[in-house]
Amino acid sequence: MAEVASTLRGGWLTTGPRVTEFEKEFARAVNGKYAVAVNSCTAALHLAVEAIGLREGHAVLIPTMTFAATAEIVLYKKAVPVLVDCDPVTGNMDLADAERKIEKLKQKSLPFLHGRDLKVVGMIPVHVGGYMLDVDKVKQFARKHGLWIIEDAAHAFPSAWRPSPTSPWRYCGDNTSSVTCFSFYANKTITTGEGGMAVTNDKAIADKIRLMSLHGLSHDAWERYSGGGWDYRIVQPGYKYNMTDIAAAIGLRQLDRAEEMRKQREAVAEYFLSALADVREIELPAEHENRLHSWHLFPIRLNLHQLQIDRNEFINELKDNKVGTSVHWRPLHKHPLYMERLGWRDDHFPSATKLWSEIISLPIFSSMTLEEMTHVVETVKSVCSRFAVSKTAAASNS
Ligand SMILES: Cc1ncc(COP(=O)(O)O)c(C=O)c1O
Repeated sequence: MAEVASTLRGGWLTTGPRVTEFEKEFARAVNGKYAVAVNSCTAALHLAVEAIGLREGHAVLIPTMTFAATAEIVLYKKAVPVLVDCDPVTGNMDLADAERKIEKLKQKSLPFLHGRDLKVVGMIPVHVGGYMLDVDKVKQFARKHGLWIIEDAAHAFPSAWRPSPTSPWRYCGDNTSSVTCFSFYANKTITTGEGGMAVTNDKAIADKIRLMSLHGLSHDAWERYSGGGWDYRIVQPGYKYNMTDIAAAIGLRQLDRAEEMRKQREAVAEYFLSALADVREIELPAEHENRLHSWHLFPIRLNLHQLQIDRNEFINELKDNKVGTSVHWRPLHKHPLYMERLGWRDDHFPSATKLWSEIISLPIFSSMTLEEMTHVVETVKSVCSRFAVSKTAAASNS
């Protein structure tokens, strides 16, 4: 790739001018004020909770339907992730359940409290698959309970939201929370191999994140290189989370193509939505006129009462026919760490527990060919028709 070759020829491989340019361009793309590039979304989330002051004795609302990173960064700070159930269709955080979990926290009736007092200070919603939550509703909820919001936007670039069809689009990162954290991992909508970005409108938070991303040094290596001199001061015990110029060079090129690639994913999604619309054994992902979807994922839900096989068997049938899929995700409350250490159980999360048994993410990527899309659709239809229960049995199962 020409951009990487030119970065290599430039001789500055680690954090340098390309990173600065990538940060500026990314902030511009989402209409945020400050962007700090790091080496993963996990790093961005970790630095965000650190910058906002999370500490022991605090609790944070985290959706159970998410990846490990969203909650583990809360544990890094010795605070407690209070898991929240999800919307049964989108998989996004269910604010009604968040309300219930706050109430239970106050009544000290959550399993892991053992009489301890925890102060709920924030929430980290995830825009699952790139389908954004209603930002106004999340903000209203946070205001009511005095919480900060950090968004896990690992899937949400470029994704946008608007309160009504006549309002302008607002991109995820356009002051949609205190800090919005993006991922550029290999399978994401734009990639730098591994990488992440923290976007905020708060200069003090941006400065703290930048400081901690490189060993807590008072100014980074590039500033020293570009005239700031050889000296530096360690002011905090920071981390080695900086992005390299090589990664940023890839990111800049990907950023140029972000909307083009989003449209390609959207075209794949539209093809699936129309070709699978009449298949009664499955439900298709949500769409909304007030969402601009990144289509990082295309999760279908199985109508299990219409099928003779379960989700895992369905996945195996697809795999036998060369359709690779995955599941987003085994909810956190079904992992040993959260079951055994915090005592969460299935009945605390009825929607996520049910959704988990139904979901399959079909393959979706921007360079998908018509032949590949057709193969996915035909294979899903064929598995459905081979394993469909009869209409009378389905009616009695439901
Ligand atoms: C919802 C969510 N949050 C955070 C992450 C972590 O991203 P990264 O691999 O860039 O640290 C992922 C990774 O897939 C994710 O899906």
